[in-house]
Amino acid sequence: MPLLRRPRPPRIQDALFDTVARWHGDRPWGRVLDAGTGRHSLRWILGLPTDGWTAVTGAESRATALTDEHRDHMRPGDRFAVGNWQDPGFLAGERYDVVLADYLLGAIDGFAPYFQDRLFARLRPHVGGRLYAVGLAPYDEPTDAVGEIVWEIARLRDACILLAGHRCYREYPRDWVERRLAGCGMTVVHAESVPIVYRERWIDGQLDVCLRKLPRFGDHGLAAAMRGRVEELRARAKATCALHDGLRFGHDWIVAAE
Ligand SMILES: C[S@@+](CC[C@H](N)C(=O)[O-])C[C@H]1O[C@@H](n2cnc3c(N)ncnc32)[C@H](O)[C@@H]1O
Repeated sequence: MPLLRRPRPPRIQDALFDTVARWHGDRPWGRVLDAGTGRHSLRWILGLPTDGWTAVTGAESRATALTDEHRDHMRPGDRFAVGNWQDPGFLAGERYDVVLADYLLGAIDGFAPYFQDRLFARLRPHVGGRLYAVGLAPYDEPTDAVGEIVWEIARLRDACILLAGHRCYREYPRDWVERRLAGCGMTVVHAESVPIVYRERWIDGQLDVCLRKLPRFGDHGLAAAMRGRVEELRARAKATCALHDGLRFGHDWIVAAE
């Protein structure tokens, strides 16, 4: 009996990736390195006319989950690579037409603390054509009720991560990224900041991180109180989100370098 192939996932609609695609124009995508992979960036790459891709993660579990999801769409030249950019031998000698570092910089602290200043120099030998870096700018102090809610969610999430004994993401501003890229001899060819509108899915995603961390709290009373706080904030944030048709706060940055 012929094996039924799973249908391709639908094309990703994403303002940040749309900007990357616009900047890339008619250039061929060739071989693509997803230097910090996840469901979102990989699904976007799957929709591009690439010759092949390598998707990097520091977590074996993520590679296994993504392989299970996409096995049917992988060509012989497509692969996952589990490793750490801190390891100088990792992917040594491999060059790609396009390197995508999508939300990688902020996540580095969990895998290679204090390595952020060396990340772009480490990726540079792998860039045959262009590097596209995407990330979240650190939040400024909010000046309105909507910003306050986003800030509160981010602070509660980070508090739960710390109380569970794990490391939080550490975000960097766009000018820091541009300085690091120039510092390792690359030329920034495009850079843009994109305002963020958070939706209910983001509220649930962030507050569910809190819930997943609760079992690791040493203090059960604190965990129970935190659960109450998480659900109170979830209800308040969703009401604010509905009232304002999204939570407009903060911005992402996108930088293209050669
Ligand atoms: C926040 S996720 C990136 C988001 C992802 N592009 C998406 O579409 O969901 C960060 C990724 O970078 C990887 N990562 C973080 N630090 C790393 C390091 N030092 N070496 C290799 N991979 C790393 C993580 O394992 C994860 O796969």
